[in-house]
Amino acid sequence: MQENNQKQYLWWQDGIIYQVYPRSFQDANGDGIGDLRGVILRLEYLKALGVKAIWLSPIYPSPMADFGYDISDYRGIWPTFGSMADFDELLAKVHAMGMKLILDLVPNHSSDEHPWFQESRSSRDNPKRDWYIWKDARPDGGLPNNWLSVFGGPAWEWDEKTGQYYYHAFLVKQPDLNWRNPEVEKAMLDIMRWWLDKGVDGFRVDAMWHMIKDAQWRDNPRNPDYKDSMGSYEQLLPVYSTDQPEMHGIAARMRKVLDEYDERLMIAEIYLPVHRLVAYYGTHDREAHLPFNFTLISLPWDSRLIAAAVDEYEAALPDTDWPNWVMGNHDQPRIGSRVGFGQSKVAAVLLLTLRGTPTMYYGDEIGMRDVPIPPGEVQDPQGLNMPGKNLSRDPARTPMLWDGTRNAGFTAGEPWLRVDRSFRRRNVASQEKDEYSPLCLYHKLIRLRQQEPSLKVGAYKPVYSDTQLLAYIRQADGHPGFLIVLNLSHRPGYFTPSAIRFTGVIVVDTFPEQEQVSVKDSIDLFGDEALIVRLDEWQAVSTNPNPHELAAMP
Ligand code: GLC
Repeated sequence: MQENNQKQYLWWQDGIIYQVYPRSFQDANGDGIGDLRGVILRLEYLKALGVKAIWLSPIYPSPMADFGYDISDYRGIWPTFGSMADFDELLAKVHAMGMKLILDLVPNHSSDEHPWFQESRSSRDNPKRDWYIWKDARPDGGLPNNWLSVFGGPAWEWDEKTGQYYYHAFLVKQPDLNWRNPEVEKAMLDIMRWWLDKGVDGFRVDAMWHMIKDAQWRDNPRNPDYKDSMGSYEQLLPVYSTDQPEMHGIAARMRKVLDEYDERLMIAEIYLPVHRLVAYYGTHDREAHLPFNFTLISLPWDSRLIAAAVDEYEAALPDTDWPNWVMGNHDQPRIGSRVGFGQSKVAAVLLLTLRGTPTMYYGDEIGMRDVPIPPGEVQDPQGLNMPGKNLSRDPARTPMLWDGTRNAGFTAGEPWLRVDRSFRRRNVASQEKDEYSPLCLYHKLIRLRQQEPSLKVGAYKPVYSDTQLLAYIRQADGHPGFLIVLNLSHRPGYFTPSAIRFTGVIVVDTFPEQEQVSVKDSIDLFGDEALIVRLDEWQAVSTNPNPHELAAMP
């Protein structure tokens, strides 16, 4: 991809991905549930925000036991979300606006209401029997093994009619497909081609690390670090039920399908430690373009831990592969609630200045928080199945706050989930007019990132970290560098690195009063302040710095 010595980047490398949870983004028909026409209505907003790709959580027909992650038809649209004509219109409009559309693909399991499973459970000799995972009871009548469901309870469900158990890593209503059966693989690859032929730009593959299981069905070992506050699934280490070596062959064959087309993207949802995660880029064959990197979600909000984790990820990443960062999604507490309002702006600066593709979660750009959902209104099966542990994902899935009108402009009807009651002062419309708002910060960050090759694709050079601060330089060859300094604490922080001398101008700051201020060699920061300095000059001056100072010389 060399052209005039200028490296060309693909859209998913230098663009930003934005996750839309369709149920909660915009309701266009007043039934209280977001829909595809609602997304169409908000495309201008997304375009103006400057994101490149929209990832839609599942929009397929589904009994909605897991809000669409239980699919009963992989080639349709759930009627409450709209029609295939609506989808086609959405796709055409996204493309006409120069953006991309990524669908969620859920290959690990289907709904129990999918015709495949209906057939599979109908008799032991049905041709689809082996499309799912059926096992006899142990001789003593016990479960086939000790594996647990992510959503609580055992992962095996007894089927009275045919006298066997079936395996479900998630809900009873989400039976796992048997990826050791080549017919299953062929069916799923055909589904991918069907959507790619339509023109979708790629997939976010759900639960990829679950897709194939130990051939011997061995018991998982106990987790010695389990605590009562954790989900019951975490009592065991899922060493035999997830991340099996055979998965890499499947991922490579999925990737080959993508490669039959131009510039399509495969993202993989994988919660694994970094060294195992990066294997999903592919070692022998090419696999996922972007195995989602959840480091910033998983780690405590601690500057030294984050600095070390960024270094570890950068080091683990093969040279040929492209990094990515995720700060939130529909399964996790919102960043605004994890770290608080002030730090969520610091998080925005971090997400949009690290090297690699950022994925934003809808509403984070206006600082949305987790909304408390009273017990009687909980809808998420994870919350319902494990009550008392505060594991419901509903709080992070509440309606987008568009304006100060009824239901924050999300719906003219009754919203399916509570709207944050503070919507009159925290919404898109009010933040567009407020230069101190998170939305305004996101606009500035995205604009700068997309204008500046150094921030978009430049190298990452660690500069400094201590118990409060984290600093790094981003620089692309032949372009001005940028110094990013983040205060991950609420107390003032003093950036006085011994390893570099620098002069420059602050161009974006979570406290905009400092923007356009010139700085030289040191910077004082408020608590919750993060800033970007356009460097005029910089040089390394010390060879014996703080262990985290300037690992990379200019
Ligand atoms: C993934 C999805 C999550 C879903 C689960 C089962 O983790 O992100 O929302 O519940 O898979 O499909």
